[in-house]
Amino acid sequence: MGDVAENRTLWDSKDWPDEGESWSEWWGDTGALWYGGILPRIHAFVPTGTILEIAPGYGRWTHYLRSLCDRLVLVDLSQQCIDHCSQRFGEDHHIEYFVNDGRSLDMIEDCSLDFVFSFDSLVHAEADVLESYLGQLRTKLKPEGIGFIHHSNIGRYRRAIRLARALPPRVMTRLVERGMLPDLIAWRAESVTAEVFSGLCERAGLRCVAQEEISWQRGFHLIDTVSVFTPARSGWDRSTRHMRNPLLRLEAARMAGTYSRTSFHHQVNP
Ligand SMILES: C[S@@+](CC[C@H](N)C(=O)[O-])C[C@H]1O[C@@H](n2cnc3c(N)ncnc32)[C@H](O)[C@@H]1O
Repeated sequence: MGDVAENRTLWDSKDWPDEGESWSEWWGDTGALWYGGILPRIHAFVPTGTILEIAPGYGRWTHYLRSLCDRLVLVDLSQQCIDHCSQRFGEDHHIEYFVNDGRSLDMIEDCSLDFVFSFDSLVHAEADVLESYLGQLRTKLKPEGIGFIHHSNIGRYRRAIRLARALPPRVMTRLVERGMLPDLIAWRAESVTAEVFSGLCERAGLRCVAQEEISWQRGFHLIDTVSVFTPARSGWDRSTRHMRNPLLRLEAARMAGTYSRTSFHHQVNP
């Protein structure tokens, strides 16, 4: 898996012809993933005052988050992504834009954040990067702040990954596509698991109050996790709710086939 430098090289040199929209296709479209997959999981925390979005890319979620807060701060390690977002959302005067080094949140004032959000980005970040972000978030979040971060969980399949790597690449790819191996093609951070993330939260003085281990686009392996965390002793603090959801792909298929705009032949209200 890639470190910060490899992530910067990849995302800064990438062509983004569709602003990342094609990554939503397994849900039908981006609206279906936002309203069917993400908003139900964060609705308790929005609308709110100040949101930090870490790693917005070309703004697939920024488009929705911007109407859910008074102030939105975007931080991404890619200059190209931040330039694109500042053009795309140039009319929204409550959005601020920062390029960082892939670890630092120095640009954020202490005790200023109500909600931190990251989805479909930090799955590529190893444990040292998450440790750095979580350590700073403890002071950047307000005492009653809360965070929702989508990160890797593929570290729980270390043995299967070792075996998969011993296979000829074409065989490995075919087995991944059939869901028989954890998805190595999805470039997940192998040092990260749900347990590692909650341990990093504890060390930072944050509490992980929910963790949902999820499958992704291919197969039923729980290669990712969405974690919800808050400063210890905030009003959101409670014992952790932990669940395993190997069926996210089926939620996505239902949205794609029945409820997404793309499931209708005629777009009545495009
Ligand atoms: C797959 S894109 C996803 C973008 C957006 N979240 C979306 O879903 O469309 C990954 C993004 O994460 C950013 N990124 C990767 N590692 C990062 C890090 N350590 N800190 C900040 N941004 C990072 C990349 O620059 C890129 O914009």
